[in-house]
Amino acid sequence: MIILAFFKKKKEAPINRIIPEHIAIIMDGNGRWAKNRSLPRTAGHAAGSKKFKEIARYCNKIGVKHLTVYAFSTENWRRPKEEVDAIMNIFRDYLRDSANFKSENIKLEFIGDRSGMPDDIVQLMAQAEYDSKDATGLKCYMAINYGGRDELVHAVRDIVKEGICAENITEDTISSHIYTKHYPDPELIIRPSGEYRLSNFLIWQSAYSEFWFSNILWPDFSTEDLEQAIDDYNKRNRRFGGV
Ligand code: IPE
Ligand code: IPE
Ligand code: MG
Repeated sequence: MIILAFFKKKKEAPINRIIPEHIAIIMDGNGRWAKNRSLPRTAGHAAGSKKFKEIARYCNKIGVKHLTVYAFSTENWRRPKEEVDAIMNIFRDYLRDSANFKSENIKLEFIGDRSGMPDDIVQLMAQAEYDSKDATGLKCYMAINYGGRDELVHAVRDIVKEGICAENITEDTISSHIYTKHYPDPELIIRPSGEYRLSNFLIWQSAYSEFWFSNILWPDFSTEDLEQAIDDYNKRNRRFGGV
């Protein structure tokens, strides 16, 4: 018996479980994670950035096709300048280092309003997108200076500029003018940190998403938590208004 228990295999995922094509994550709780350790909030953001890389790699490994992560919202500029500056520096470090993603066959793209970002970061973003453009694995979209309402405002402006007649505007018109026009809506949205809200994330795209909330703070989020979220997703009954 003891020998059997020793060799007991790790719990395996059910063979026919569905891996969502598109998972979106609100990477929240960095500040509280740092506070719990008597560290500055910036240490929490650094830990959160490390966690993002780990989870993106894991998503690539298990065959998730699209991953969208909320890294900085249009409202996060309201934070103290020192914190915003520190977050921008973490982006700089991360983007300079993003060649690693390319070597792992992960394609990196950014959604959000780049015009509000520092010029050097905009350049680094474009470079990271260019460097990884041929990757065929996970497509990873980082939402930086992103707001769902802001996204819709930009979409409406573009639709008006294109002169599309009011009666020709459909849901597809909106979907094809938002940042996420080239990929499917997320089936699963994960929000750790104990908050039960979207905070302006993917408000159009989440109309029929399944939500998974947890009290875990983002830097503590593990691949087991992701597996749990996917298992729970598999138990959901998605009806899309039908029966
Ligand atoms: C998320 O963590 C990161 C950003 C919003 C940039 P927070 O910094 O919001 O962490 P909490 O919510 O204060 O713990
Ligand atoms: C959402 O977290 C934004 C990101 C994780 C980037 P916030 O911490 O900004 O959200 P609120 O303020 O608690 O709603
Ligand atoms: Mg927060």
